[in-house]
Amino acid sequence: MSSTTIGIIGGTGSMGRWFERFFTGAGHNVLISGRKTKISFRDVAEKCDVVILSVPLDAAIPLSREIGPLLSQDQLLMDLCSLKEDIMESMLSCTSAEVIGTHPLFGPFTGSIKGQNVVVCPGRGTVWLNWFEEILRAEEAVVTRMEPATHDRNMAVVQGLTHLLTICMGRTLQKMNMAPDQAMFYSTPVFRIKADLIGRLFSQDIELYANLIGKNRHVKEALETFMSAMEEGKESLLSGQEEDKIAYLENIRGFLGDFCRHGLNESNKIINDLYNK
Ligand SMILES: NC(=O)c1ccc[n+]([C@@H]2O[C@H](COP(=O)([O-])OP(=O)(O)OC[C@H]3O[C@@H](n4cnc5c(N)ncnc54)[C@H](OP(=O)(O)O)[C@@H]3O)[C@@H](O)[C@H]2O)c1
Repeated sequence: MSSTTIGIIGGTGSMGRWFERFFTGAGHNVLISGRKTKISFRDVAEKCDVVILSVPLDAAIPLSREIGPLLSQDQLLMDLCSLKEDIMESMLSCTSAEVIGTHPLFGPFTGSIKGQNVVVCPGRGTVWLNWFEEILRAEEAVVTRMEPATHDRNMAVVQGLTHLLTICMGRTLQKMNMAPDQAMFYSTPVFRIKADLIGRLFSQDIELYANLIGKNRHVKEALETFMSAMEEGKESLLSGQEEDKIAYLENIRGFLGDFCRHGLNESNKIINDLYNK
């Protein structure tokens, strides 16, 4: 399989364009289709060895049902959706083609895939699975295989809870009438990074973020755990005895272990970079 024809449905969008550049750079022939392109979704299904769904999750499920039956067992149906359980179930039930679920854990502003995480959910077949993982590894991506349900539960924290906290921090600034540009004059480096992350989220596709939180059925569990941790933290640090406060923090530090030192070193790099331009 030297040069492969790859069709990206939703290839007009940000991740679709990113993967068009990626596969073209790896020497493959890439066709892209959107709702208004000359190349239709059906053309892609007919002409391509590999068909990639790079559309929002809500659109990916009905599209998989439309495209899947057009594919043969020699082809590959793959998706890039940020949640994997429902789309994997849909792809596997609607086609005889090989199936792979993929979640690139980076956004369209990323330059190179080198060092970036890519989760791969094997669905059906190994021919295309080996082909795809080889391409990723050749470009030094970090490839991890995962079950769809495990992936979605992990994403409930990595994306759902993380983004929800960023949104609620933005809402807190709004409620306290603390404009972030004014706050820059009295901010610490850590607050500056947090404020930048709030700005980063709200300057991107807010529908995508709403989906990452609202469409992941595991976020409820993550949020309930977070709320109970918040209650504990409030009780220990706001009204507890001095020794209880330290014990509370020591207990968490014990869990994090050596990662604390790693986190200090990594965040120092970010902070130094922020001020030494
Ligand atoms: N952005 C990220 O950081 C990121 C990271 C990892 C994974 N993902 C996943 O990658 C996928 C694509 O995300 P994206 O950020 O590239 O989104 P995007 O920029 O909005 O592009 C999605 C494309 O899908 C097409 N589309 C939208 N609604 C459709 C519908 N109802 N039916 C058919 N086509 C439709 C649109 O093409 P036309 O308007 O030309 O039809 C659009 O260009 C999503 O599943 C997302 O979860 C995104």
